[in-house]
Amino acid sequence: MTYAITQVAFIVGTALFIFALHWMSDPKTARRGVYAGVAAMLVAVVVTWVQPGIIHHGWIVVAIALGVAVGWPLSRVPLTAVPQRTALSHAFGGLAAGLVGTAKYYLWLNEGPENLTAFRMTAIIAEIILGYLTFTGSLMAAGKLQEIKWIPQRPVTYPMQNVTNLGLFLVALVLGVWLILNPTAPLAGSLFPVIIGMALLFGILLIIPIGGADMPTVISILNSYAGLSAVAMGFVLDNKLLITAGALDGSSGLILSIIMCKAMNRSFTNVLFGAFGQVKATKTSGEQKVYKAESPDGAAQILEQANLVVVIPGYGMAVAQAQHKVRELYDQLKKRDITVKFAIHPVAGRMPGHMNVLLAEADIPYTDLVEMDEINPDMPQCDVALVIGANDVVNPAARYDKGSPIYGMPIIAADKARTVFAIKRSKNPGFAGIDNELYFSDRTWMLFGDAKAVVGELVKQLSGGSGMH
Ligand code: TAP
Repeated sequence: MTYAITQVAFIVGTALFIFALHWMSDPKTARRGVYAGVAAMLVAVVVTWVQPGIIHHGWIVVAIALGVAVGWPLSRVPLTAVPQRTALSHAFGGLAAGLVGTAKYYLWLNEGPENLTAFRMTAIIAEIILGYLTFTGSLMAAGKLQEIKWIPQRPVTYPMQNVTNLGLFLVALVLGVWLILNPTAPLAGSLFPVIIGMALLFGILLIIPIGGADMPTVISILNSYAGLSAVAMGFVLDNKLLITAGALDGSSGLILSIIMCKAMNRSFTNVLFGAFGQVKATKTSGEQKVYKAESPDGAAQILEQANLVVVIPGYGMAVAQAQHKVRELYDQLKKRDITVKFAIHPVAGRMPGHMNVLLAEADIPYTDLVEMDEINPDMPQCDVALVIGANDVVNPAARYDKGSPIYGMPIIAADKARTVFAIKRSKNPGFAGIDNELYFSDRTWMLFGDAKAVVGELVKQLSGGSGMH
């Protein structure tokens, strides 16, 4: 394939990647965005593969087969496991970048040392440090989210931790700069693996002090590291598509992390170095607090009387896969001319857009999904707030309890509604590990049970009881 055709194909691929991101930002065009991304990737792989410089086609087929064998099961994980699945993808992306950088260095060192210019060496060092730290960091993050036994979920801290980590990173950087200046020195070939080892270790140490609740944010930060290592790889291989795709990946990861930090009212440094979740996570006060439980029958009767019902979904709706039953409940209420809105908290669930995706899957109209800032002023007019498997995102302690790990996080003002029904299975806390006083409020009634089963019961009551059909 001639150089010109390759370059045109790369521009087409780049444009498709940009459109993919643009389309994915709106539910109506998201599907098209995914197809555009797949097409761009296909163009990138095929065009690269048919370059005359590429030999060893057999090995590439083996690599593609192995990739499919790993990728296929990864594509079938449930939605609740998508954050750790994404972390695994970043891990492999980082490893690939690291390996390419390593291979290129030794290839040039042995067969053409004159190729190891300062510019290429800088790219290689950036590629291996970012690539390998993303590899181990993402594996740790995936392990924490998957709750693998031998990886502690809680932040593990020790004295001088940040100084040690930063020190290690700086030493790796200094060695890297030395290598950039002396790429062919007698010591260089043996120093290179030392830097790799340090990057691998740094990835692990970076994640150890971070608690499980912050993992989705960290994964998104690692996403941007993986993107940056791909940019560096693009410079090493002189591949413009890799540079632009990596830059898109890197910046979208960064933007996503900023959005998540804002939604939790946390700073970047607080997420990375704050050891969130470690501070008195389960604060048990002496007094026994009382929950009032309600039956689905009683709750259905109140729901029928309402003018405005605001459904607040959370992680539990995802776990129970209750979205289709929620759709049936929505239909029942709409039949009675009740206004039903869904209040979407930006970090409800375990990844951004988690609730939107689930509700879209059940064909609930996007127009009834309302962002937190928009719904909160209407909450005092809301007759029933129906909390379905949400906890931290409706915890009023975030407003005033300075000692609470979620202090300062904006919440959905469920407590302002006239009546609150909260569906959850037990008295256990949510992700941040803290009690929720909303559940003890005078206005709140608990509907204990699995979200799918309880919402199913409500639907049954409403479809059987009222003679509306
Ligand atoms: P959580 O605070 O995690 O609470 C979920 C609740 O659902 C739990 O209290 C649980 O109570 C209940 N539940 C679990 N399985 C259930 C089932 N089958 N049926 C009914 N209820 C069930 O959820 P949230 O309010 O959505 O908050 C999300 C948390 O994740 C926040 O702390 C947020 O900061 C954190 N986080 C999210 C993100 C993103 S991007 N979404 C990123 C970082 C951190 P039971 O066990 O009693 O049932």
